[in-house]
Amino acid sequence: MIPLKRALSSPTGRKFVMSISGIALVLFVIVHLLGNLTLYVPDGGETFNRYAAGFEAMGPFLYVIELGLLAVIVIHMTWGIATALKNRKARPEKYAESVDSKGGPSNLSLASKNMIVTGVALGIFLVVHIWHFRIRKVYVAETTEIDGNEHADLYALVHAAFSDPLWVAFYVGAMLFFGFHLRHGFWSALQSLGAMKPEWSKGIYALGFFVALVLTVGFMGIPLYIYFVG
Ligand code: HEM
Repeated sequence: MIPLKRALSSPTGRKFVMSISGIALVLFVIVHLLGNLTLYVPDGGETFNRYAAGFEAMGPFLYVIELGLLAVIVIHMTWGIATALKNRKARPEKYAESVDSKGGPSNLSLASKNMIVTGVALGIFLVVHIWHFRIRKVYVAETTEIDGNEHADLYALVHAAFSDPLWVAFYVGAMLFFGFHLRHGFWSALQSLGAMKPEWSKGIYALGFFVALVLTVGFMGIPLYIYFVG
């Protein structure tokens, strides 16, 4: 095993990889939500489609960014699953028993115990989601004209999806997993990176809760708004 690989597979290394990749993904979802908020603009999709077309203008550089993003997602998921499996091997008894035995107030809430469950659910959501919008944007979406050029009508694709109650339910459900995963992940990442004094613990936990709530409600509102308001 090469030293770097060994370092990154050690318990501290694994936490470090999970924290850095997790924080990178949180930054991505913040930017993603801010862009998606243009779906609320009541102009028949012009602002949203212009925003999406702006990415296409980046040309091949966009693929570099997308591949980088994919790599971070794959690393986060692989390391997360590997960590959960190793922990399970090292401590085969159920979480509930081990948490009870610790006693006292703990941030090992339902969210922390279920990081692997919410994480796997999110992984499944992402596969479906990337097919649903990113891949179908290329192969299924109608086109629309922006400044004399043809672009995918991503707004129409998103609207068509969220006029179906099953897709609305799928996204709303997935966002619940997303919220739980983020709430604990945020706190855990900052703790692992040592960016937290014990006296900050409560504040950082509250901040994680707030960030998770804002992102969850922000994303969840989109399918609900499109379905109920149009
Ligand atoms: C209701 C909520 C959401 C909506 C309406 C939405 C919408 C979209 C759309 C329209 C695209 C295609 C963008 C394009 O090709 O230009 C996209 C891509 C993507 N979304 Fe979302 N999204 C939502 C939630 C999320 C969440 C919660 C995550 C992460 C946990 C996420 C991760 C991604 C990723 C990784 C891509 C692929 C990015 C790319 O390749 O450019 N999305 N989303």
